[in-house]
Amino acid sequence: MSTDLPTPTTPAAQAASAAPQVPAQAASAPPQVATIATLARHEGQSVTLRGWLYNLRESGKLLFPIFRDGTGTIQGVAHVKSVSSVVFEALKGLTQESSVIVTGKVRADKRAHGGFELDIEDLQVVQRVPESDPYPITLKEHGVDFLMEHRHLWVRSPRQSAILRIRAEIMRAAAEYFDSNGFIRTDPPILTPAACEGTSTLFPVDYFGDPAFLTQSGQLYVEATALALGKVYSFGPTFRAEKSKTRRHLTEFWMIEPEVAFMDLDGLLELAENFLSHIVQSVLKNRASELQVIGRDPAKLEAICPPFPRLRYDEACEMLNQAHKDGHLEAPFTYGNDFGSPDETWLSSQFDRPVMVHRYPADVKAFYMEPDPADARYALCVDVLAPEGYGEIIGGSQRVSSYELLNARIEHHNLPKEAFEWYLDLRRYGSVPHSGFGMGIERAVAWICGLDHVRETIPFARTLHRIYP
Ligand code: 4AD
Ligand code: MG
Repeated sequence: MSTDLPTPTTPAAQAASAAPQVPAQAASAPPQVATIATLARHEGQSVTLRGWLYNLRESGKLLFPIFRDGTGTIQGVAHVKSVSSVVFEALKGLTQESSVIVTGKVRADKRAHGGFELDIEDLQVVQRVPESDPYPITLKEHGVDFLMEHRHLWVRSPRQSAILRIRAEIMRAAAEYFDSNGFIRTDPPILTPAACEGTSTLFPVDYFGDPAFLTQSGQLYVEATALALGKVYSFGPTFRAEKSKTRRHLTEFWMIEPEVAFMDLDGLLELAENFLSHIVQSVLKNRASELQVIGRDPAKLEAICPPFPRLRYDEACEMLNQAHKDGHLEAPFTYGNDFGSPDETWLSSQFDRPVMVHRYPADVKAFYMEPDPADARYALCVDVLAPEGYGEIIGGSQRVSSYELLNARIEHHNLPKEAFEWYLDLRRYGSVPHSGFGMGIERAVAWICGLDHVRETIPFARTLHRIYP
C-alpha cells in the first residue's frame, strides 16, 4: 500500500526530511504505512506508524517513547545523534497522548513487548497535548469511578482496548456460528408495545402519546420469524430498568438470540454448548495476544468444549443445601426460588466448563416456557452458568406451543391481552414445538476475559447510576 500521508507540513517534519543525518528515502518509495500488529512483515524496513504517544522515558541523549496505534504498542528509540535535532526536540518532553506520525526502522528485539522496536527516523506531531491541560489518565493508578467518568479516554488504555477487541471477536464468532449453520438473522424492533421479561424492568417511552417500551428481549419476534424461516437469530441492544447494582447487571446490553422451529429442549442444550465452544475457541485462536495483554490464562478457556455438564434444578438445589451445610454458602437455599447471585457463583465454580441447569420450577420462570410433559410443575428451560463463578450467561427454553395454555398464562400474569394477540396468532396458525435462548454479550465477555465487572465489557456502560459519558 502506498502512503496516503500528507506531505510533511510541520517545521519538525520539514526540517527532519531536510536534515542530513536522516537516512534518505528514495522519493519514489516513501516508507510504507504500517500498523503495530503487522510489524513482523516489515522487519529491517522503514515504516510509518500513525498513532499516539503512550509513554516516554528520557535518559539524557536517549529517548524511549512508547507509541500505540490501536493495534498494539511499540517502543521507539531515538538518540540525539540518530535523528535531526528538530525531531529530537519535538519528541523530548512530548506529552502523553499527543498524536503523532512516526517513521522508523523495524528492529527485532526478543526482550521487547511484541518482539520489535522502532529506531526512529522521523516524527510529525499531529496534535501536541498542552502541558497546561495534560491527559487526565496518567499511568498511575486511578479509581474506577474516575475511570468510568473518563471512559471516552479510558478506552485508549492497552487493557481496555484489548477487552474491546475480544468483545468484537466474541460478537463476530457468535454471528458466524449461526450464519454458518443455516440460521437467518432477523432483527426485532427495539420499540415494543409489551413486556417480554416481566413488567417490573421496562423502560417506558412516549410513542406519539401512546405508551411503548424499549425491548427487553427480541424473543417474541424471533419466534414469529422462526415459524417463517425455520432457524433464525437476532442480535441487538436490549434494555432492562434493573434497579440492581451487581457486577452482572447493565440497563442496556447486547443480546444474541437464536430461535428454532421444531427444536426441543435437548436440541437447545446441544445448540448452546456448540455455540459457546465455538466462541471461546475463536477467541483463543484470533485474540491470543489480547488475552495475554489482560493477563487471562488461556488454559481455563481451552477446557471449553462439548459436552457441558447438565444438571436438573432439583440436583442443583441439593448441591446448594450441601454447600450451606458445609459452610460454603451463608444463606440456606429455599427450594422453589430462582437462584441468587451467590448460589449461581457457587454452582458455576464447581465445574471447569459451563454447566447447564434445566427444568426449574415453572412458577419462578417466564410465562412463555413450555411445561415438562413428565411433570408440569417444571419448565422445559435452561440457564447456562459460566465457570469460575461467573454465573448465568444464557437463559432459554422450549416455548409454550398450545394456544389454550399460552392464553391462560397471559391472563394469569395479568399481561395486556391486546398487545399479545399477534403472539397468540403464532399458536393459532401452524403452532409447532420451538425453542430458543438469549446470551448477553457482556456477561460472556466478562467471563471469557476474566473480569470482575460487566462495566468494562462494553464501550460505554449504562448502569443504575451512570448515563455519562
Ligand atoms: O435470562 P434472560 O432474561 O432471558 C431472556 O431475555 C429470554 N427472552 C432470551 C431468549 O430465550 N431468547 O436474559 C438472557 C441473557 C442472560 O442470560 C444474561 O446473559 C443477559 O441476557 N442479561 C443481562 N446482561 C446484562 N445485564 C442485565 N441486566 C441482563 N439481563 C439479562
Ligand atoms: Mg435469565
